Amino acid sequence: MKLIALILYGIVCSLLCPRTFGRNRNAKSEAMSQVLSRILDSQRYDSRLRPNYGDGPVVVTIGFWILSIEKIDVVNMDFTIDIFLRQEWNDKRLGHGLNQSITLNPRVMKEIWVPDTYFVNAKTGSLHRVTTPNMMLMLTPAGVLKYNARITIKAACPIDLRKFPMDSQICPLILESYGYNNKHITYKWELSGTDGKTFVPSGVRLMPNYKLTKIHLSLTMNVYVTGNFSGVRAEFTFKRSYSYFLIIMYGTSSVIVAVSWMGFVVPLEQTAARIALGITSLLTEVTILNMMNNSMPKVSYVKSSDKYLIGCFGFVFLTLVEYCAVLLLKGKQKQRSIQEHDIAIKQENAKSRVAEQTNWINGTLLTTEEENSCRYLDLSSSVTTSNDNSVILTSEFVEPAKDNKPLCQIKYRVQGFIHRARKKILTNGFILGMDEYSFKLFPVAFAMYTTFCWMDYL
Ligand SMILES: *[C@@H]1O[C@H](CO)[C@@H](O)[C@H](O)[C@H]1NC(C)=O
Ligand SMILES: *[C@@H]1O[C@H](CO)[C@@H](O)[C@H](O)[C@H]1NC(C)=O
Repeated sequence: MKLIALILYGIVCSLLCPRTFGRNRNAKSEAMSQVLSRILDSQRYDSRLRPNYGDGPVVVTIGFWILSIEKIDVVNMDFTIDIFLRQEWNDKRLGHGLNQSITLNPRVMKEIWVPDTYFVNAKTGSLHRVTTPNMMLMLTPAGVLKYNARITIKAACPIDLRKFPMDSQICPLILESYGYNNKHITYKWELSGTDGKTFVPSGVRLMPNYKLTKIHLSLTMNVYVTGNFSGVRAEFTFKRSYSYFLIIMYGTSSVIVAVSWMGFVVPLEQTAARIALGITSLLTEVTILNMMNNSMPKVSYVKSSDKYLIGCFGFVFLTLVEYCAVLLLKGKQKQRSIQEHDIAIKQENAKSRVAEQTNWINGTLLTTEEENSCRYLDLSSSVTTSNDNSVILTSEFVEPAKDNKPLCQIKYRVQGFIHRARKKILTNGFILGMDEYSFKLFPVAFAMYTTFCWMDYL
């Protein structure tokens, strides 16, 4: 029964409603179809040939609209950008003379000539295909084709991290024809100026850590073996938002350096405390340096951040060195006081022996002499008598004999200097003063160093 009813309905309908059944085109679409058939007629239109063939080059006008800039990958040196790409060219053969533009289905692209534009510096790129290819084609009455497609491009970008974290990256996007040289296609920008700010909508989705500060538009001409190819180039300038790095990197590492100075006020005897403080600070600096560079490419140059962090590392290291020096001097001083004690005992002994000294005649001291070595007055094993007849015994070096070899003169000078310096250094006041001076000197030096590093960014 149902089947018969359906067949009956079909028969009735085919008689009464011809508009929905069978040929359902109205007059307007019929006319348009005819126009399209006429202009796309393969007898009239050869899609294998570019417009204007045999005449001047086709001028392709390029424009775009940024949808989002996903990310700048400093490790792989590229950036990902999502755009509406606009191309416009004039194909007089497609002029239809109607009083309005025709919006065509992208399938028509197979039947007409389209420029073979490609992204020169693209690593990967894709045309969005959900739900159908995201593409638009419009034909004006005069035959101007307006093409628009949604494209995501990952393009190479020469990343320069010399000034990291206050760096700006300039990432280019270059478009060119793949097969037609400048005798066939020339490209130009939609805009006459060089500022592409108007390509960026105000509410554009950008990365959180960069600011798009500038888009510079220019025309390019690449010379290849096959000819000179015209192209367009857009340069995006991204400025890094550095406040995060400033706090994490500069903040933390300066605090660590300051913490290491606290060792200067810890008493000298607290070896464990001071060493632990120094080592911990040192390791923390290394960790910060590592943390910063983990997400960075292994570049051959030194980044500003590295300079600063290595500087901080150096400062922490120097505080450790200072402590070691103090410990060393303290040890030496102890040794010396023992020596002095010994000498004092020797002196006592010498007093009694002074009369028997054989190489001590008429107030002149005989020098010990060897053939090939420097002559020197070894007073540590000799004794002198002063006016009050007491014996003075020192380990001090005295002026060398006048007739000595020049090399020996220098040796004496150096030894004398070392001796005098040692005498000055090995006092309690100096050793304790070292910590005190360092506590003032290190912050001043660090402040100067920080200023120096900041000048790098200017
Ligand atoms: C285009 O021409 C049609 C008639 O062919 C007319 O109805 C229509 O209003 C015109 N449109 C414009 C925008 O002039
Ligand atoms: C390409 O351009 C260069 C100058 O930029 C010119 O010397 C050369 O002849 C051109 N080559 C062709 C094939 O037009």
